[in-house]
Amino acid sequence: MLQKVGVIGGGTMGHGIAAAFALGGLSVSVYEPLDSQRGAILPAIRDAYALLVEEGLATTSESDAAEARIALTDDLSVAVADRDFIVEAVPERLELKQALFAELDARAPADAVLASNTSSLPLAAMLEAVSAARRERMLVTHWYNPPLIMPLVELSFFGNMPEPVYNRVAQLHERIGKRTVKVLKDVPGLIANRIQQGIAREVFSIIEQGIAAPEDVDKALMFGPAFRYATTGQLEVADFGGLDIWATVGDNLLAVMDASKSANPLLKQKVVQGKLGVKSGEGFYRYSPDRVGDMRRAFLRRLIHQLKASKAYG
Ligand SMILES: NC(=O)c1ccc[n+]([C@@H]2O[C@H](COP(=O)([O-])OP(=O)(O)OC[C@H]3O[C@@H](n4cnc5c(N)ncnc54)[C@H](O)[C@@H]3O)[C@@H](O)[C@H]2O)c1
Repeated sequence: MLQKVGVIGGGTMGHGIAAAFALGGLSVSVYEPLDSQRGAILPAIRDAYALLVEEGLATTSESDAAEARIALTDDLSVAVADRDFIVEAVPERLELKQALFAELDARAPADAVLASNTSSLPLAAMLEAVSAARRERMLVTHWYNPPLIMPLVELSFFGNMPEPVYNRVAQLHERIGKRTVKVLKDVPGLIANRIQQGIAREVFSIIEQGIAAPEDVDKALMFGPAFRYATTGQLEVADFGGLDIWATVGDNLLAVMDASKSANPLLKQKVVQGKLGVKSGEGFYRYSPDRVGDMRRAFLRRLIHQLKASKAYG
């Protein structure tokens, strides 16, 4: 059983992944080279745990014990020395990840499993950086943000790893309450991000065409398709609706829907204008600086409520 976790990079994803493993009862070491970033890790984890305690998903003693299981370091060798599962969450640059995996291969125990949280880089290119033996113990484990709350972790099973090793990695994540899915082909975006981009393409296109106001488009998604999706996947929804209906409606609608191969021009225009969303004060909606903190917390609370509800349907 995998017991000791190393997390490489303590940024947005790394600190959340560390928090999730520690709350799940595992010993976690975090390697973060930047002093300022390393100093921000425990305060951020404490804040996130406090929200879970407020919402009844953890007790104070559980969150205190979890925090005590996390060790921070600026020394890679120390971070990986006795670990049996090591996941990297460093910036999304292939050369950086290749160099890191070569280091990890050299410094980590021979039987340690190495994982990448990459959103878009091919595992095959990262496998080139490690020894033949390590290639059988390396995979993509793709978490969703925020990692402490979002249940999904996509796991690669691309043919380089024996099934018993895969099963141990899947069990490690299931043990801390995550829902794992097995992805069989090394495709960019794995499963969830591809589905999400398909929805986003049509949503941005509907806005671009002036078909409805942003509030109504988001409402249509939340109280329409996404309302069902939280409990019932697309394939089961199709089965319930009838595949004949889905085939007919698909033929009618797909012919007129957005099929572009790049990001929507309206989206790109907003980026050029500096309208980046919450972080710049305006995106599709406006955000006043004095309300942003409250809005972020409300967003997290909605996800936590959804997580609580999801426990009822397994
Ligand atoms: N942010 C997301 O929503 C999200 C979701 C899923 C997957 N991912 C993937 O997770 C990875 C990390 O993304 P992020 O958003 O957490 O990035 P981030 O920039 O917030 O954090 C990266 C961290 O890595 C550190 N770092 C830089 N070079 C390093 C090195 N050589 N060794 C160790 N640490 C180093 C940085 O100091 C920083 O703290 C990327 O591969 C990204 O594609 C991100």
